[in-house]
Amino acid sequence: MKFSELIFASRNQGKIAEITEMLAPLGIKVKSALEMNLPEVEETGTTFEENAALKALEIAKITGVPCLADDSGLCVKALDNRPGVYSARYAPNRNFDLAMDKLLAEIRESGSNDRSAYFACVLVLGFPSGEYKAFEGRVDGVITMQKQGNGGFGFDPVFAPLGYDKTFAELGSDVKNKISHRGRALQKFLAYLQEN
Ligand code: IMP
Repeated sequence: MKFSELIFASRNQGKIAEITEMLAPLGIKVKSALEMNLPEVEETGTTFEENAALKALEIAKITGVPCLADDSGLCVKALDNRPGVYSARYAPNRNFDLAMDKLLAEIRESGSNDRSAYFACVLVLGFPSGEYKAFEGRVDGVITMQKQGNGGFGFDPVFAPLGYDKTFAELGSDVKNKISHRGRALQKFLAYLQEN
């Protein structure tokens, strides 16, 4: 399958920037739902795949062309894998500075010393016919004791991937895109494009 342009069914500027950067070397231009003024799709599913498929298929139906969507989130062991699919809604007024304070406080209050966590991402390529294909990625790591770094978005300043002593917000987009949940899901998507 060949694309020179792809609609990314997201209004999240952090995700749009990452997907645009990752697809640019392949000559694929990304148009986002934000820039095309497409409607926000309600995430009524209970899994990452369900929510990503809802977004990709709704936008594919409206635009008549295949669309890519991502649903992702942070799963924290000490919090029984919360906030998970509810990660975006965990932030008071979409303020992630407050969301990270809340997360660090909740982990402290849980009494657990286990700081392991993972980011999960499911990318879905949805077709106007209603069919879709899903690609999953995950990165394991730990929640740091405090916020560190200014890069990235969302929970990046409190997440240090395994094998690194820096957070995603400190590591920069080159490193993050190679090892992140979204980067890994995207590598699977690209392999699929080459095979089909
Ligand atoms: P949604 O997929 O739009 O429902 O939102 C996922 C939420 O998970 C984001 O708003 C972030 O809070 C969080 N998240 C997902 N991926 C990342 C990431 O790469 N870094 C930091 N936070 C992320």
